[in-house]
Amino acid sequence: MYYHIVTYGCQMNVHESEKIAQILEDMGYTETKQRENADIIVFNTCAIREGAEDRAFGNIGALKQQKRKNKNLLIVVCGCMTQQKDVQEKMYKTFPFVDIILGTHNLYNLKTLINRKIKDRKRICEYEESGDLHEELVAKRTSGDNAWVNIMYGCNNFCTYCIVPYVRGREKSRKKIDILNEIKEIIATKSYKTITLLGQNVNSYGNDDTSQGSFSELLQDICNIDGDFKLTFMTSHPKDLSDDLIDVMSKNDKISKELHLPVQSGSDKILKAMNRNYTASHYLTIVKKLREKMPNIRLTTDIIVGFPGETEQDFEATCNLVKEVKYDGIFAFMYSKRKGTVAEKMDNQIDDETKHKRVNYLLNLEKEIKAQKEKI
Ligand code: 5AD
Ligand code: SF4
Repeated sequence: MYYHIVTYGCQMNVHESEKIAQILEDMGYTETKQRENADIIVFNTCAIREGAEDRAFGNIGALKQQKRKNKNLLIVVCGCMTQQKDVQEKMYKTFPFVDIILGTHNLYNLKTLINRKIKDRKRICEYEESGDLHEELVAKRTSGDNAWVNIMYGCNNFCTYCIVPYVRGREKSRKKIDILNEIKEIIATKSYKTITLLGQNVNSYGNDDTSQGSFSELLQDICNIDGDFKLTFMTSHPKDLSDDLIDVMSKNDKISKELHLPVQSGSDKILKAMNRNYTASHYLTIVKKLREKMPNIRLTTDIIVGFPGETEQDFEATCNLVKEVKYDGIFAFMYSKRKGTVAEKMDNQIDDETKHKRVNYLLNLEKEIKAQKEKI
């Protein structure tokens, strides 16, 4: 019996798919890279932008033929997209050949749901409003010499464009002891060169459970573990990035000198409307501090163009910030309306043509900066 997993979205999902893989292997399935050979296909979906949802719907729809040929094929759809109740219902109605639909909070129950489906053949649509930590889920690591380690789940920030707090729930930090034990096990295998800590907002690690200590303390404790490994983490929120963290990063050779620090916009007006809780000048102060202590630090960022109300002047402010920081990499996204978020209802939505123009302008700017840097 073979399984095939299709993953959309961020590193969190990539790692979650590693946990799905382990659940399926424990049930006796073996991985196949060929979708046509699979007995069970799992779509681990993303909801961050409309495009991700459209792609998933298209690819799942295309499985109708395969299901017609193989009546025993099991099709499972899980992840952020199907943590939205209305999308779950749409999926259930549109694709009668999909067997199991679940959200992010009931992944721990996947084995039970598959067994139930096999036993009574009835289609399953499962939704849980919120979830707990599930330490029993282990990963079948599939990302080469990098090992992903979750340190926290969820997000409390409610940036006005973002669906994540709605589909991943509130921040929940893992216990430090569980994280350290997982990392010790990873290092003991000697198979991994890097460890990447994952969380929607790693800088607020421990805020929901202060007995675990802060994120910088966690980093220091990990660095104190013997062994030859590099440590990195994502994603950081500029409003929570502390001086302590910069200190710990600069002092420890084990921590890679790279930081993904999403700025989203360089306009204070837009940052306020996004509910980001920092200004462009505060962001630049952090960059200055980082570079003072780590002159060669590799900085990357996320930027959203075409957020409601973004004028040419606002976009220019973003370009000016980009020119000043001279990033090593930029992920530029066109704003995408997400159902249930605050920005969905904002006036002055920006047209697609302007969004395209701005995203292309930023990508060219990134190229120019890269070329300039290579000359030096
Ligand atoms: N539209 C466009 N981009 C978004 N992001 C999050 N939500 C949206 C949205 N509604 C981007 C942000 C975030 C990255 C992971 O995805 O830049 O940092
Ligand atoms: Fe979304 Fe903002 Fe949370 Fe990041 S910090 S996951 S952008 S709400």
